[in-house]
Amino acid sequence: MQDIKTYVDQDKDRFVQELIELLKIPSISADSNYKKDMLKTAKAVKASLEDAGCEKVEICKTPGQPVVYGEKIIDSSLPTVLVYGHYDVQPPDPLELWDNPPFEPVIKNTEIHPDGAIYARGACDDKGQMYMHVKALEYMTKNNELPCNIKFMIEGEEEVGSEHLGWFIENNKEKLANDVILISDTGIISKDTPSITTGLRGLSYIEVEVTGPNRDLHSGLYGGAVGNPINILSKMIASLTDENNHISIPGFYDNVEELTSEERGKMAEAPYNEEEYKNKLKIKDVYGEAGYSTLERASIRPTLDVNGIWGGYIGEGAKTVLPSKAFAKISMRLVPNQDWKEITQLFKNYFDQIAPDAVTVEVKPHHGGYAYVTPIDNPGYQAASKAYEETFGKTPIPQRSGGSIPIVSLFEKELKSKIILMGFGLDTDAIHSPNEHFGIWNYLKGIETIPYFYKYFTELKKEE
Ligand code: BES
Ligand code: MN
Ligand code: MN
Repeated sequence: MQDIKTYVDQDKDRFVQELIELLKIPSISADSNYKKDMLKTAKAVKASLEDAGCEKVEICKTPGQPVVYGEKIIDSSLPTVLVYGHYDVQPPDPLELWDNPPFEPVIKNTEIHPDGAIYARGACDDKGQMYMHVKALEYMTKNNELPCNIKFMIEGEEEVGSEHLGWFIENNKEKLANDVILISDTGIISKDTPSITTGLRGLSYIEVEVTGPNRDLHSGLYGGAVGNPINILSKMIASLTDENNHISIPGFYDNVEELTSEERGKMAEAPYNEEEYKNKLKIKDVYGEAGYSTLERASIRPTLDVNGIWGGYIGEGAKTVLPSKAFAKISMRLVPNQDWKEITQLFKNYFDQIAPDAVTVEVKPHHGGYAYVTPIDNPGYQAASKAYEETFGKTPIPQRSGGSIPIVSLFEKELKSKIILMGFGLDTDAIHSPNEHFGIWNYLKGIETIPYFYKYFTELKKEE
């Protein structure tokens, strides 16, 4: 497969241009105003799969956003790889913090990306990483290098919790049958330290509404005598964690899997520099649960975060008002053995319990998902490891990530396969933030590495 490097080198400008075109469509799944753009993106993905040599490409309707499916079956006795990715993106707000409009991609050179990076919403998460697979397939079909069967399932609801994908999987088990699931929707430690994600955290996402008086009140006439929902919500949020940043919800830690000191020791060997970490984020100090390192806090420990909080007057100038309502969106990242449905219930019970009689609270669960951890002694992991070795010249480090892809644990349960998280992004790519970008080096490296996965996976499966 010597010529993949040459192929990428010759066609790199076209690969970048094609991705830029895809990034121009605002496929924001959270906002129903963009429904047309979701379909437009699905159609663009479909066309790209057809161009790359996929057969039976279709846009499958679901009760939510459409799923794009395609396959290239060369021989039913050969192994089958199912590629999963998502074409939806996070809302780009706050718009004023972007240096270029989020759906008008620009290429800029930076210290980390001297070969240029594409700046646009979805550049790394996940259009760029998903499209690497389309281009890798194009190379393999054009050059007769596809050693096994391949299926693609690209969805449009990942960023809002993949609510209807479970339905799609349950109804299409045969169509989706595979020997391994391959996903590029995570990252590597750095350009010279490749890593493979071996774990993802689970999630419980909740919205709370705190109601006080039946209307906004004059804060002079009523302030001090009537409970202020924003003051009360702030106190309630504060009491969700203690002085050690442990979560105070009774029962929250009951099923949390504790790592052995060996496992923690192994984790601590991963390259990591706290000074650099702080400098990159322009923070004077890190902050988190007592007794755990930064890497541990951000991967193997459960957490609770307020994602947004609002209520009252936030317009220009001052308005003296005691608001009737206050709101917050709260997420909890979960670890193996924590059941997100149980945790959601525990949260609800506790939140109801700590609310003073001055207010009523409503707890509205949004979505959730289970954590995932994969062993490394399987052909999928080994094939990915050898593929990175081939193109990075180094064995990748297995590492658990703090992010979530809720559908991954469902894949394992319903399709009974291992999931290989073969990402190429960097933590600094600003996914979900203003100025999201994806290094062109990373993008091309991904296209170059992926075909080796198929080669080694097919070989290792034959040996089994
Ligand atoms: N691709 C990310 C998850 C991710 C990124 C995992 C980097 C590991 C490293 C995915 O698109 C995502 O953002 N997931 C959401 C969950 C979803 C339910 C909104 C998340 O983790 O917040
Ligand atoms: Mn993603
Ligand atoms: Mn995301």
